[in-house]
Amino acid sequence: MTYVVTENCIKCKYTDCVEVCPVDCFHEGPNFLAIDPDECIDCALCEPECPAGAIFAEDDVPQTQQHFIALNAELCAGWPVITQRKPAPPDAAEWDGKSDKLKLLER
Ligand code: SF4
Ligand code: F3S
Repeated sequence: MTYVVTENCIKCKYTDCVEVCPVDCFHEGPNFLAIDPDECIDCALCEPECPAGAIFAEDDVPQTQQHFIALNAELCAGWPVITQRKPAPPDAAEWDGKSDKLKLLER
């Protein structure tokens, strides 16, 4: 199994999650992070760290977010690893909880 970053990370990108990952499996895009499913050891440390509640165990990903499982695998392949927290976008709080953000995902 793996953990999966879902829609609410888009444009929030708090990056608290990356500091706790023991195997450095977060990859950074312009406004979203993705977990490499081949590297994730299923430790669950990252899930409670996300202020946006965007990280789920694969088995717990909501029905409406199932496409993010494949999307994490696809996106991490082309994005660099991120291991250190950085400041969130200045408008992160405004985007937290907004629906229909997938169309805003930058690759
Ligand atoms: Fe990293 Fe553990 Fe989260 Fe997987 S579950 S992404 S190994 S912190
Ligand atoms: Fe995204 Fe949450 Fe990490 S908003 S960058 S999954 S802390």
